[in-house]
Amino acid sequence: MNDHDDDGIPTIAWTARAVTVEWRGGEAAEFASLWLRDNRPQDRDPHSGQRLIDVCDLPPAPRITAVSVLADHLLVEWEGESAGARFAFAWLRAHAPGAPPRPELRRAPWLEGATLDAARDFAWLGFAALDADAAARGAWLERLLRDGIAFCSGVPATEAGILQAMSRVGRVATTNYGEVFDVRAVPSPENLAYSDLGLGLHTDNPYREPVPGFQALHVLHASPDGGSSLFADGFAIAAHLRATDPATFALLAATPVPFLYRSADAQLYAERPLIQLRCDGAIAAVHYNNRSIAPLRLAAGPAETFYAAYRAFAQLLREPRFQLRCTLGAGDLVLFDNQRILHGRTAFQSARHARHLRGCYLTRDSVHSRAAQARP
Ligand SMILES: [Fe+2]
Repeated sequence: MNDHDDDGIPTIAWTARAVTVEWRGGEAAEFASLWLRDNRPQDRDPHSGQRLIDVCDLPPAPRITAVSVLADHLLVEWEGESAGARFAFAWLRAHAPGAPPRPELRRAPWLEGATLDAARDFAWLGFAALDADAAARGAWLERLLRDGIAFCSGVPATEAGILQAMSRVGRVATTNYGEVFDVRAVPSPENLAYSDLGLGLHTDNPYREPVPGFQALHVLHASPDGGSSLFADGFAIAAHLRATDPATFALLAATPVPFLYRSADAQLYAERPLIQLRCDGAIAAVHYNNRSIAPLRLAAGPAETFYAAYRAFAQLLREPRFQLRCTLGAGDLVLFDNQRILHGRTAFQSARHARHLRGCYLTRDSVHSRAAQARP
């Protein structure tokens, strides 16, 4: 026995409307005639791989007239058409209904963050390997996509260090803050992040379109006196809420919440639910930032109902058992999915110690792209 025993020639059954392929391992998939006709390899541009035809160019109900096997390919012919098509079995298997999701969607939720140790349970990569070791960087990126968070050590604790490191990971998104932002205590901050107050768990910039996909924070000066970092997996907490209180979950997923940011040089506004779902009902994003929720436009009755749900979610986010707590040192960098992983910090004493983190945002698609390009 080996892992590839079921890669032999599969068993085929077919009708005019569909082909059923049963692999050696017993797994089977049914492919509609129209789906096969739409995916004929010869209807793709050989250079770009892009489809050359539109759905209107397809016969509405193509009838299969012959199916055969040639080595590791399936051959299909259709009624009234001179050209058949060849499909590699490996390609069919990768695109079968029920095939594993794309790697960027294979997330491993972690609910009980307090039981985890950042150094032991998450991916860490030294700056030199991030910069020069493509295989190590690829493996680290896969764990970032799976866990939603990953760490780097030894990133030069200089102002340029974060951009140098993140140039290997994705494309930095420039915002009204510029390419980077500095998280340190300043007088009269226009964002409470730039104070020494503790910050509850939140996601950044839900008022922005698009919401930053990934966020990096690089420690330039650590505070020995507070200022620990807190993280929680918003997808796992939302799934926990869905399991334990489905009505509250449904209300949060269905209520648009206004988010607003104003400063001297920007006014940013967007509406989105605290828990955002994909069209198939899977959790797509968590947007939670109590500092930037604008007044809700709700009548008294719906407002009461919404506030009860909002409070229930907020209370879950405050539960210490869901929080991964870690103390990052100078040169450490944490990178996380800003629409999944909530982050916060404990208070620190800015008068005694100058804590300084520099942050930046990365576009989601660019990080996914770098991970995909690193795959064999
Ligand atoms: Fe933040």
